[in-house]
Amino acid sequence: MVQDIVLEVRGVTKSFGPVRALRGVDLSLRRGEIHALAGENGAGKSTLMNVINGILQPGSGKIFWEGREVSIASPIEAQALGIGLVHQEIALCPDISVAENIFMAATNTSRAPFMDFRGLERKAAEILRQFCNLDPKRLAGDLPIASQQLVEIAKALTLDCKVLILDEPTAPLTNREAGALFAIMHELAARGIAIIYISHRMAEIFDHCDRVTVLRDGQYITTMEISEITPDDVVNAMVGRVLGDLYPAKAAPGVIGDILLEVEGLSDGRRYHDISFRLRRGEVLGIGGLIGSGRSEIVKGICRLEGTPEGRMRLAGEAFAPVTYRDSIREGLVYLSEDRKGDGVFLEMSISSNISALNLSRVAGRGAMISDRRETVLAKELGAKLGLKCGSYSDPVSSLSGGNQQKVAIARLLAVAPRVIILDEPTRGVDVGAKAEIHRILRDLANQGTGIIVISSEMPELIGVCDRVLVVREGRLQGQVEGAKMTEENIMQLASVEGPSRTAAHAAG
Ligand SMILES: Nc1ncnc2c1ncn2[C@@H]1O[C@H](COP(=O)(O)OP(=O)(O)OP(=O)(O)O)[C@@H](O)[C@H]1O
Ligand SMILES: [Mg+2]
Repeated sequence: MVQDIVLEVRGVTKSFGPVRALRGVDLSLRRGEIHALAGENGAGKSTLMNVINGILQPGSGKIFWEGREVSIASPIEAQALGIGLVHQEIALCPDISVAENIFMAATNTSRAPFMDFRGLERKAAEILRQFCNLDPKRLAGDLPIASQQLVEIAKALTLDCKVLILDEPTAPLTNREAGALFAIMHELAARGIAIIYISHRMAEIFDHCDRVTVLRDGQYITTMEISEITPDDVVNAMVGRVLGDLYPAKAAPGVIGDILLEVEGLSDGRRYHDISFRLRRGEVLGIGGLIGSGRSEIVKGICRLEGTPEGRMRLAGEAFAPVTYRDSIREGLVYLSEDRKGDGVFLEMSISSNISALNLSRVAGRGAMISDRRETVLAKELGAKLGLKCGSYSDPVSSLSGGNQQKVAIARLLAVAPRVIILDEPTRGVDVGAKAEIHRILRDLANQGTGIIVISSEMPELIGVCDRVLVVREGRLQGQVEGAKMTEENIMQLASVEGPSRTAAHAAG
């Protein structure tokens, strides 16, 4: 049976200063299996993958490749063995084309033939066509985040690997794109390639994986056959306790109050048209629709992060006409970007300065200063509220796990005590426990009178969290669902495009 194990990790440890990210982790990978790796934010999943890929060197422990002990000194060596990794954080070169990005990794190895420019584009198109339609000639930096992720995946597919690691690949993808990716995963597995699949979504793990290994706080907990367990078994192993209800209660009768934000006839003349809706105090309003439907563009227009759309807005009964996003913050309307790395947090700045970043800009106009101490007090208070896991608040945000970085981004918005919070994919990459915490916090804020708008591609999240959901298709509001009508079916029906324009809308994503 030994020859069936392609990769084995035994007792691997890794520390970052005082943080013991891995404390003796085992993982054994069979040829042709899809092996899920699960664990809460900060459990050590990405760190383990970085060790396997030669980006990090383990403190102790052994790695066996096809039964032979190896030390993997660099990603190039990992690649030479046949290990491909799609990172959790997207890292394309923004100034070169999709095609060049896709072949960047392959051209590092001696195996890859030299390729001419046109040939490169043709090959790239071939790979991309398997699961999406993206123009290989476009500049990578111009693509929305979901498309950038597709490029990362295509990049890994060019490597002729025996082990493919996918670290939360579906987080920014549409259902259709994710479906296509799963089909490719199964095809690769059938060819004998072993896949390590990291995801916080139980449904994906149970639909597509053969086994699951669970980590908790850097420790190996268990490896189980998916066919023999239920999602509850995985969740319990992850959190080490039994979780309560997944979603908080909806707005209690009488909580939803007067109109807080009124948007009328918002239009940028290009990507969205004639958007009108009202948000009430205490309400959690969802915006659903396919990626590329214009959801994010609309809310970025509202808070003036992007464009100066025409139309009228009122906030708490008064005209709301910000010129810049800074004006919008000052008036109490804030936005959490779906692109955490691009415009969510400052990775190299400390956790506490990130959390008070907006607050500072808000009080700066009055000439006030916030002391380091107050900054830390604020950060700690909000961090504790959100269950942020970190060593010290003076550490850079880059030292946090993906999900904990997201909590910092949310804490930063809460620091300005906003009247309206718009969150774009607020729980992407956040583990089940933290996700429930974030949902509870949103509901608490709403109960205190804040207006909340949530954009999400995850249908269960929209339905579980929102009091009402607006659906956008091709830049126009198609309708809304609420109460018992708030079902996946009804939302999908409003969101999907009938007829030949389906592919066009998809490509716009
Ligand atoms: N470069 C680093 N410097 C310091 N600490 C780090 C570094 N990278 C990771 N850590 C810490 O190691 C621990 C494990 O992080 P890791 O990124 O592996 O978690 P994860 O399981 O991938 O979480 P997520 O689901 O949020 O992506 C965390 O406590 C994190 O803060
Ligand atoms: Mg991770």
